[in-house]
Amino acid sequence: MCGIVGYIGKKPAFPILLSGLKRLEYRGYDSFGFFVFDEEKPFLFKKVGKISQFEQNFPNPSGEIGIAHTRWATTGEVTEANTHPHLDCHKEIFLVHNGIIENYQDLKAKLIQEGHKFTSECDTEVLCHLIEKYFEGNLEEGVRKALREVKGAYGIAVISKKDPEKIVVARLSSPLLLGIGNDELLVASDPSAVITRTRQVINLDDNEIAVLKPDNFFILKEKPLETIEWKIEEAEKKGYPHFMLKEIMEQPESLENTLKGRLLISEGMAKLGGLEVIRDKLRKIKRLNIIACGTARHAALVGEYMLEEYANIPTEVDSGSEFRYRKPVLDKDAAFVFISQSGETADTLAALKDIKQRGLITLGIVNVIGSSVARETDAGVYIRSGPEIAVASTKATTSQIATLALLTLFLGRQKEMALVMGQRIARELEKTPKLVKKILEQAPQIKKLAEKYKTFNNFMYIGRKYDYPTAREGAHKIKEVAYVHAEGCRGGELKHCELALINEDFPTVAICPSNSVYEKMISNIEEIKVRNGLVIAVATEGNEDIKKLADDVIYIPKTLEMLTPILALIPLQLFAYYSGALRGCNVDKPRNLAKSVTVE
Ligand code: G6P
Repeated sequence: MCGIVGYIGKKPAFPILLSGLKRLEYRGYDSFGFFVFDEEKPFLFKKVGKISQFEQNFPNPSGEIGIAHTRWATTGEVTEANTHPHLDCHKEIFLVHNGIIENYQDLKAKLIQEGHKFTSECDTEVLCHLIEKYFEGNLEEGVRKALREVKGAYGIAVISKKDPEKIVVARLSSPLLLGIGNDELLVASDPSAVITRTRQVINLDDNEIAVLKPDNFFILKEKPLETIEWKIEEAEKKGYPHFMLKEIMEQPESLENTLKGRLLISEGMAKLGGLEVIRDKLRKIKRLNIIACGTARHAALVGEYMLEEYANIPTEVDSGSEFRYRKPVLDKDAAFVFISQSGETADTLAALKDIKQRGLITLGIVNVIGSSVARETDAGVYIRSGPEIAVASTKATTSQIATLALLTLFLGRQKEMALVMGQRIARELEKTPKLVKKILEQAPQIKKLAEKYKTFNNFMYIGRKYDYPTAREGAHKIKEVAYVHAEGCRGGELKHCELALINEDFPTVAICPSNSVYEKMISNIEEIKVRNGLVIAVATEGNEDIKKLADDVIYIPKTLEMLTPILALIPLQLFAYYSGALRGCNVDKPRNLAKSVTVE
């Protein structure tokens, strides 16, 4: 998500930090900041916006030690106050951070009681005050003691005016590496930030703390030197040929971020801080309307099934472009949920403005912090899936669905959902990042499948119940990135129309996990087979029978029926990606499409 660069050596730090930060720009950011330590004139510089907007007027600080950060807001709006580096009360500790401090609210309350003064809403600031609390002259000791209290994920780099001439860095579940140069040391969250200065790096492991000094460094244990083999442009994509593949592969991590600190397993409940302000009002709502466009609308359709089945709330989904022009009959006891990765889609925003004027409750499920949908809604939940660069949405979709599952728990448990049911959903939801990781291991087989089917120009995708939106999204993905015609159809509707299309040239992807509609799906597959249609089945592990019927099978692990879309989407995203790549399409930027459609 965010980016960290740090430098300590014999050269002016600022230009080196600046060039490192620019190498991290591809990841997306909304604000940036620097701290360069110089005993005479310490330099702190933070801005909202892009580096290029300010570059002409950058000062030229001296100082050979410094840290820098590009922020992509997750906790707290996009403001200068929330931008890193963050500081302690006495403005002596300077810190940059990637990750999420899950227990920051509790820590902050305690530190305020102890007399600490906070100047931002960002979770990171608690780290500065904690280090201040434990600092007794040695920075690494202060950091070590502070981190014992922290829950969550972090990669940090810290400088203290009271223990200068060093940068202390630490990591837990957020990447951080040391760059070992000639007479200089760097720290970065991503190899691309150090690659122009050195290829000798040490990747820090979880719970490790390292101390960087001008002429040496130490970690709490010995670590081997590694050499980065990537070219710069490969480093930006972490070695993947396309952002889309990188983002598909990041889903175990993005889902974990979505769920982090939000699942209360024993209470069978979800903790959604962003909805607290409106909790009482939400308890009284009788209906939900979800508005979204494109892929986000498919996530919304999954939400419709979840919210009706488990939270017992009548739910209706519409696309922004339709909603704004039809004359819907609105219920005054309804709440409106707006789902948007970017938070800037014009049609979604227009519907939101219309609903606001009518005085109804509005909620946002958004990825980009401080975006228009996030700002305009009464309350909401950030999906925290990190910047998505490829036009075709992948990791944001699975995080949107996971967030809708959290919302189902949150609303359902305040209504009639039983504790055991809540616990079961929470437990299964917690497992999804691991299950997704397992599915991703099948990427080479799915690539082979895409090769086998690459000459077909038409595909049918079918599913029932929760797997119907999955079928829609599977078809959507292959259309977007491989320019292949595809239909996403309800299994039960096939016989009313689409069956007419089926022949040996029109293969079907059937999403048929072992669930309440499995038998019905088998009948649909049989209808296709007798018409000479080829079938790729997405089925539950252990189902050997399906091999007798389908031409090819992709297995996914067992989970709750309502969570199946999170798993079943993974192979469909990979199949679309490889189909597009094999056809030589520009998968990251499909023709005629844009990542964020800010015009009608
Ligand atoms: C565009 C993008 C899609 C995205 C849709 C909605 O069409 O190409 O990938 O699903 O907009 O975007 P949003 O940012 O509102 O989720």
